[in-house]
Amino acid sequence: MKRVGILTSGGDCQALNAAMRGVEKGLRENIDELEIYGFFDGYKGLIYGNYRLLSHADFAGILTRGGTILGSSRQPFKLMRTPDENGLDKVEAMKHTYHKLNLDCLVILGGNGTQKTANLLREEGLNVIHLPKTIDNDIYGTDVTFGFQSAINVASQAIDCIHTTAASHNRVFIVEVMGHKVGWLTLYAGVASGADIILLPEIPYDINKVIEAINKRTREGKGFTILAVAEGAISKEDAALSKKEYKKKMEQSKYPSVSYELADRIREISGTEVRVTVPGHTQRGGSPCPYDRALCTRLGSAAARAIVEEDYGCMIAMINNETKRVPLGEVAGKLKTVDPNCQMIKEAKYIGISFGD
Ligand code: F6P
Repeated sequence: MKRVGILTSGGDCQALNAAMRGVEKGLRENIDELEIYGFFDGYKGLIYGNYRLLSHADFAGILTRGGTILGSSRQPFKLMRTPDENGLDKVEAMKHTYHKLNLDCLVILGGNGTQKTANLLREEGLNVIHLPKTIDNDIYGTDVTFGFQSAINVASQAIDCIHTTAASHNRVFIVEVMGHKVGWLTLYAGVASGADIILLPEIPYDINKVIEAINKRTREGKGFTILAVAEGAISKEDAALSKKEYKKKMEQSKYPSVSYELADRIREISGTEVRVTVPGHTQRGGSPCPYDRALCTRLGSAAARAIVEEDYGCMIAMINNETKRVPLGEVAGKLKTVDPNCQMIKEAKYIGISFGD
């Protein structure tokens, strides 16, 4: 008999269900006596014992369904060691639920914060397997995370739609793409949909360079300009502030996000008409794209195999198109950022895309 727990934690994405289906199929196919317990709303379900024994039917027909059948929540890693409002020790509570159900392993689907907690549980003696989920693609130790490609599709469609209206009205348009800390999604969606200027958190921008790029297009007879701007894009002046000063500036800002401030600066300096579009959480919604479905089926299958072989304490990564078991202790707490000197950025610059630097 094998008893496996499963949960989805952090911001959702399109392919969580596809990944869980992959795990379940691999387990059912290879283990005769099996119980799978689904924990609801991420680590909350594990902490407060909110779970259900899942049947094969629970996983049927979910390959193409977005969101997560188990629900999700954000349980910040930095608060995991802090007791809840009733004094409950969350880590001890999670261990208690795990042992009460006599689990052999816990499969945890989530991003960076989720991975850190998974590693903490590993250090506390639980058998865990992590599957790398996030539209941000910022998990260290895997070439790609699931949700990323689906989010590129949504963000690209948004930029494509903006293109036609921007061209009709000869406007400058900013499309704000998700990603506070890293710019993978903005980079790929921007390049995929022909953005003229791409601003990433990893490359602080000079407002004069941004204006210069807009003016260059005007001189070349192009009446409109599209900027793909990451949520965490930052100007050179702001990047020079200390973390504390920048946090204070953002808290006191009258702008709902960095794009609106950027739009005002472009208007003030160049007198150009600027519009801002924020696709926001649509980037995490809808059906997973076929690439993500295949990726998740592979990752899920590889996770099931690791469980059958009782090889725990790892993230199932995709490296050079092969699934690999990467020890959690080697990757937890690290972030995979965009290298400003990477080939993709050099190629984008070569065809005239500005990064504002
Ligand atoms: O981590 C995924 C992500 O979608 C980020 O790109 C985004 O900045 C953040 O989550 C939004 O978080 P929330 O859903 O909590 O508003």
